[in-house]
Amino acid sequence: MSTEQAPNANFKPRVFSGIQPSGGLTLGNYLGAIKRFVDKQEEGIETLYCMVDMHAITVWQDPAALRRQTRELAAGYIAAGLDPAKSMLYNQSQVTEHVQLGWIFNCVARMGWMGRMTQWKDKAGKNAEKASLGLFAYPALMAADILVCHATEVPVGEDQKQHVELTRDIAAKFNHDYETDFFPMPEPLIQGAATRVMSLRDGSKKMSKSDPSDASRINMTDDADTIAKKIRKAKTDPDALPSDAKGLEDRPEARNLVNIYAGLADMSVDQVLADVGGKQFGEFKPMLADLAVAKLSPISTEMGRLMQDPAEIDRTLTAGANRARDIAAPIMDRVYNIVGMVRPV
Ligand code: TYM
Repeated sequence: MSTEQAPNANFKPRVFSGIQPSGGLTLGNYLGAIKRFVDKQEEGIETLYCMVDMHAITVWQDPAALRRQTRELAAGYIAAGLDPAKSMLYNQSQVTEHVQLGWIFNCVARMGWMGRMTQWKDKAGKNAEKASLGLFAYPALMAADILVCHATEVPVGEDQKQHVELTRDIAAKFNHDYETDFFPMPEPLIQGAATRVMSLRDGSKKMSKSDPSDASRINMTDDADTIAKKIRKAKTDPDALPSDAKGLEDRPEARNLVNIYAGLADMSVDQVLADVGGKQFGEFKPMLADLAVAKLSPISTEMGRLMQDPAEIDRTLTAGANRARDIAAPIMDRVYNIVGMVRPV
C-alpha cells in the first residue's frame, strides 16, 4: 500500500466558489454553479460563496448597476437555497485579503500562463491592446479567491475548469519557490447533467449573461410566460428525440435541451431519454417549459421579495464578510511572512 498522503490531507475540507455580478443570473449559472453550491452546503462542509465584484470591473460596469446586480446576485443565492447561517455569503471587495493575495500571485504567475487562458483569448479577442490589465490578470485573482481561504474544492461549470487548473499551478509554484507546503491543491467539481448550458439560439455557443440576444438565455428573473416563450422558440432540429445519449451526438441543440431538462429534474440524460425518447420537440418543449417554470418561478419570486429590503441583504453580506475575514486574515498574515515582508509589531 502506498504511504504517500493525498495532497490535501493536511487541510480541512473547505469549498469556495464565486459568480460575477456583471449582469443578471442565467439558467447556466444556476445549473452549472448555484445548484452545486447548495449540494455542498447540505453536505455540511464549510462553504464560502462570493460575489466577485473585483472581477466584474475587469470590464466596464456602471456603478449603480454593479451595486444592484451584487445585491440581486446575493438574493439569487439565498432564494436558490443558500442559507447565510450555513454558508458564508459575501462580496469580494469587503474581504481585502483577496486582492492582497491576488497581487502576490501576479508576481508568481507567468505572462505565458495567462496568455494561454481561453477565456482571456475569447474576451480580449483581437483587441488585446485595448483590454484592461485586470482582465489579463483575472485568473491570478481567481486563484487568490480560492487559496486565500485554503479551499480544497471548487464547484464550477465546465468553462472555469482551466482557471481552477491554473490555480493549482500557481499554488504549486508558490509552494516550490518558497519551499513550503502552505497551499492546498484545490479540485474543480464539475457535476450534474448541465455543466455547460448552451445558448437557446445557437447550440455551439455557451449561454451567457453577456450575449446581446436576450432570447439566447433564460434569466433567473424571467417570468413564467417569458420562460415558456423562450423555450418554445429555442432552436431545434426536425428529428424526434433519441432513446439514448449516443443519439444526441451531432445534435447540439437537442442535447442542450435534454441536458437542461436533466439538470432541472436532477436526472441523468439516459433517465430523461428513457421517458421522452421518440417524442417530437412539439411535445417535449412544453414539458421542459413546465418543468423550468415549476423550478425557477419560486426562486424568482423569492428574489423579488428579498430585493425589497436591500439593507437586509447588505447586513447579510457584511456578516458573511466578517466570517470569511476570520479565515482569510491569518492565512494572509502567514503568506506575508513566507514571502519576507516585515510585519507590523
Ligand atoms: P461567471 O460569473 O462567468 O459564472 C459563474 C458560474 O456559473 C458557471 N456558468 C455556467 N455553467 C454552465 N453553463 C453555462 N452556460 C454557464 N455560464 C456560467 C461558471 O462556470 C461559474 O461556475 N471566473 C468566474 C468567477 C470566479 C470564481 C472564482 C469561480 C471568480 N473567482 C473562484 C470559482 C472560484 C466566472 O467568471 O464565473
